[in-house]
Amino acid sequence: MKRNAADRAFTVRAWRPGDDPALVAILRAQIQLDPGWPPAYARGGDLGKWLGAPATLGRWVAVDSREEPVGHVGIAPVAPGERAELWTTALGCDISALAEVCRNLVEPGMRRTGVSAGLTRVALRAAIDAGRVPVAAVLQDRQASLAMMLSAGWRVVGGVVGSSGRELSVMIPGPRVLAAAQAGRAA
Ligand SMILES: CC(C)(COP(=O)(O)OP(=O)(O)OC[C@H]1O[C@@H](n2cnc3c(N)ncnc32)[C@H](O)[C@@H]1OP(=O)(O)O)[C@@H](O)C(=O)NCCC(=O)NCCS
Repeated sequence: MKRNAADRAFTVRAWRPGDDPALVAILRAQIQLDPGWPPAYARGGDLGKWLGAPATLGRWVAVDSREEPVGHVGIAPVAPGERAELWTTALGCDISALAEVCRNLVEPGMRRTGVSAGLTRVALRAAIDAGRVPVAAVLQDRQASLAMMLSAGWRVVGGVVGSSGRELSVMIPGPRVLAAAQAGRAA
């Protein structure tokens, strides 16, 4: 859906089960626009379940002025593996102290209006408040997603090949967010 400037206001709130039909519609619009994400294995199944599956630590949606969902983000616990090793080495903390920012998606008509940045800020705050250090892994061919994270101060600490065979940039937050997370863990 094309939007004019007046339609671009949004707020961020906790996800509710009733958001799923709108979020699935956004995923379908994303699939039409761009075959690169979600990955092929997700497209044949239940998109709503796929979007939420890993995000057991929290989920948020951005809603427009009509309360319609226009974006999503989650935070997930981290499983052992190559990515976890890169994060724990870079951060000097245990795997149980990490929260991975995941499943970030914005309605095509609302992109470049700060929705993802706004969602990610809320997810980071929640991770820090839960005593965890936020981390992220972004597919290297997802230019918008990488640009969004880099613009928010995240940095790449390594690369791994993900389960779908595509390369992922393994990222940690910038110094300000890290300091807040470390202060939260020490408190
Ligand atoms: C990645 C995505 C979530 C970004 O959402 P968004 O709401 O458009 O991002 P924002 O408006 O918050 O962007 C913040 C900053 O990130 C950077 N950025 C975002 N999209 C960009 C793009 N397409 N090209 C270059 N820089 C970009 C810019 O610096 C931007 O600030 P600016 O608009 O003031 O220049 C969105 O493009 C999307 O849903 N993509 C499909 C799903 C996806 O790829 N998810 C990630 C899988 S790893």
